[in-house]
Amino acid sequence: MGSGRLGSPLGRLLAVAGHDVFFSDADPARAAAAASAAASAADGQARGGEPGQAARFGEVVVLAVGWEEFPAVVAELDGMLAGKIVVDPSNPIGERDGAAVVVAVPGGLTSPQYQQHVLGDVRLVRTFNTKYPNELLELGIAGQRGGARADMPYWGDDDEAKKAVVPLIEDAGFTAIDGGGLSEAL
Ligand SMILES: NC(=O)c1ccc[n+]([C@@H]2O[C@H](COP(=O)([O-])OP(=O)(O)OC[C@H]3O[C@@H](n4cnc5c(N)ncnc54)[C@H](OP(=O)(O)O)[C@@H]3O)[C@@H](O)[C@H]2O)c1
Repeated sequence: MGSGRLGSPLGRLLAVAGHDVFFSDADPARAAAAASAAASAADGQARGGEPGQAARFGEVVVLAVGWEEFPAVVAELDGMLAGKIVVDPSNPIGERDGAAVVVAVPGGLTSPQYQQHVLGDVRLVRTFNTKYPNELLELGIAGQRGGARADMPYWGDDDEAKKAVVPLIEDAGFTAIDGGGLSEAL
């Protein structure tokens, strides 16, 4: 969900690793472009479509939309993410008049604790939030090609969900580092 600066290269790394990736976006053309770039890098297939289709399709759903867009995603998908493993790479940064601004997370929570609260009944794992997109792609490709692997921390309160996400981190070319629960997350 979200085929922008982060979602597109992340999906591409996963497609190259052989995962069945379905891109979606508020802008269908952006999802189609990300799917086409991933398919050509992977020398295979990647699909693009509506957010609802992505939510139905994904065993693991990556919410690569802006931090402040999570409530809109919840409203749009109307319960479709319930019980799903959701990857949260979002950093509390908003946009005001075209400029990026840091957003204070309410309630003394960490960012993913707050997003868990917004999303409700999902099995949230926080990861892929610590690298810029170009870095993510370069380091991921290097790791996938057998070079040195960069560390990728992950956090969550659901152990089974964390176990399901670790192979995705590793297949994307990184060494998965368990950072603990959502209360400890960066
Ligand atoms: N870029 C980075 O350096 C970086 C690094 C680490 C983590 N992150 C995190 O990754 C997330 C995505 O960042 P980004 O830089 O990739 O942002 P981006 O380039 O703006 O991409 C986000 C995409 O999500 C789409 N979108 C917005 N609301 C949506 C919805 N309800 N359903 C489906 N698609 C929706 C946007 O479409 P519209 O533009 O049409 O709204 C846009 O194409 C953010 O939470 C950010 O904090 C980013």
